[in-house]
Amino acid sequence: MTKNYFDNYKIRSSLKLWLDKEYEIISSLSDLSEMFKNEYVKIAKQLIDKKNKEKFLEDDFFNKSIYIVHSFANNPWITQIEILEILNISIEELNSLNLILRNSEIFQHIILKEGIGNKYWNSIIPFAKNANLVLDKKISLPKRIVIFPGVSCMFFCGFCGRNQSAKYPMKSVGNGTSVFKKLFNETGNNTLYSIGGGLEPTTNPELGEIINSAIKNQIRMPLITNGYSLTENYVKKNPGIWNLDSLRLSLYGIDDESYYFITRLKKSYSMVMKNSINFLKHRNEKNPNLKFGLNFIVIPENIDQVLKILDVVREINQNVTNGRGVDFITLRDDFQAVTGHTIEKEEAKKYTLNSTMDEKLRKKLFGILGEFKSIKEKEFPDLHVDYGYSIFAVSRGVTTQGLKMITTDKLPDFGYPQLSLAIDLYGDVFLYREAGFLERYGNKKFIIGRLDSTNTLEEVIKEFLDSGNSIKYDTKDTKFMDSFDHVLASIVNQAKKDKEIEIPFDKGPVQARSNLTSLNLGNNWYTDELV
Ligand SMILES: C[S@@+](CC[C@H](N)C(=O)[O-])C[C@H]1O[C@@H](n2cnc3c(N)ncnc32)[C@H](O)[C@@H]1O
Ligand code: SF4
Repeated sequence: MTKNYFDNYKIRSSLKLWLDKEYEIISSLSDLSEMFKNEYVKIAKQLIDKKNKEKFLEDDFFNKSIYIVHSFANNPWITQIEILEILNISIEELNSLNLILRNSEIFQHIILKEGIGNKYWNSIIPFAKNANLVLDKKISLPKRIVIFPGVSCMFFCGFCGRNQSAKYPMKSVGNGTSVFKKLFNETGNNTLYSIGGGLEPTTNPELGEIINSAIKNQIRMPLITNGYSLTENYVKKNPGIWNLDSLRLSLYGIDDESYYFITRLKKSYSMVMKNSINFLKHRNEKNPNLKFGLNFIVIPENIDQVLKILDVVREINQNVTNGRGVDFITLRDDFQAVTGHTIEKEEAKKYTLNSTMDEKLRKKLFGILGEFKSIKEKEFPDLHVDYGYSIFAVSRGVTTQGLKMITTDKLPDFGYPQLSLAIDLYGDVFLYREAGFLERYGNKKFIIGRLDSTNTLEEVIKEFLDSGNSIKYDTKDTKFMDSFDHVLASIVNQAKKDKEIEIPFDKGPVQARSNLTSLNLGNNWYTDELV
């Protein structure tokens, strides 16, 4: 039934119009009014006790419930205390409104799927239930792990937090492979994995073997790579690559000059293009289920390149003569591992970028995305475009906010090892994903232990949590967090605040935060569905 409502074009556009503006009371003339009111009244009549029914059936409480829907659809981080203060109601009244909303398929759908918070909700749902593990300091294996098998990196991207002179000794490769194999055995597919960096994963000559060992444990494996070393020869030596679930190539420009500007390596664009075309031709023969996509970080310096990403896709696809080409594009905001901070002490870098997006630039991006969408629809109807957490809002014309980033004072004392960790070639276990760069200045305090042939990840986590040694944060420590870390930290912080006033997630307005969601999801690069 819910689906029928939202398939209706008129309803969808009025809903979007209402959601994308500051909250307004729904006018009784609006298309949405009847639908909202009928739903609210139906559920309130069923769930509210006799004594309070009359009060809750009045317009005032109806409007308050709709305010909650509007807020959560756009701002998944709002706390129950904030809602209480804005609506000026008692905790009991808020509990009743939350109960009504939790029991409505329509309102749940609007909160999770229709607002600009949609992309955040996709990440929140599988992890929210487990925020309690963090608050209660329970020992548990993490729900998500990114492994960093890269030995070194050949690029010098100006927004990347890596230490540009650090690399692992080649002899650590074998150690890494055994550590990862043992880890896959320990967690099985109860943990969601990806391979990223750290440095560049394809600098590891045993990458194929690592992937195969994950597959043996029924783990679906996505890979993030800059594609420079993904040559015919490398792929031949690492046939395990064909067992990947998806490969996301980081696209650092749209021609030689723009690529050089970011990577500082000559001819990197032509190398990456050649490798991509070659990879896709083989993909179509060896494993057409493997999804291949391009990730583009939108920064002030490259906004004008966004439209030209489709030229890159066109060129790749025209050269892949035996079937499908690029499957997806992900557009991402800079999560400010380097930009946006003035850091006095940090290792020397070839160059760094320092500008950040603002509202004027986001407005410009909105215009470009309109054109981007229309070319995509006409020419690449099957290409999936994922706008990520914040560019999704820009794509709808909401340009007032960037990426949701938490501040250091709100970070959990012991991180959230029960939710997410990063592990490198040495077996070092990092609390935050951008801390996992070898010898990055200031990252040591985020290493909670080292995996070796004698211990398990569960033991490392237990020892850390039992140690009582909480993290002593500095104000700029958020540079060690990527966008996903910002989301997880925000969930934990919100769960803590809600619990403090005794409206935990289970009693909040969003039913899905109380459900233990199966983590059988690849990632949302190539689909919007939580599969
Ligand atoms: C650190 S890289 C490691 C893997 C590989 N070297 C690469 O570049 O694809 C992992 C991903 O993070 C992205 N990334 C790095 N710095 C970023 C930043 N400041 N903001 C957003 N994404 C960033 C990269 O583009 C890449 O897609
Ligand atoms: S983003 Fe990736 S390719 Fe660029 S410098 Fe960092 S690790 Fe290397």
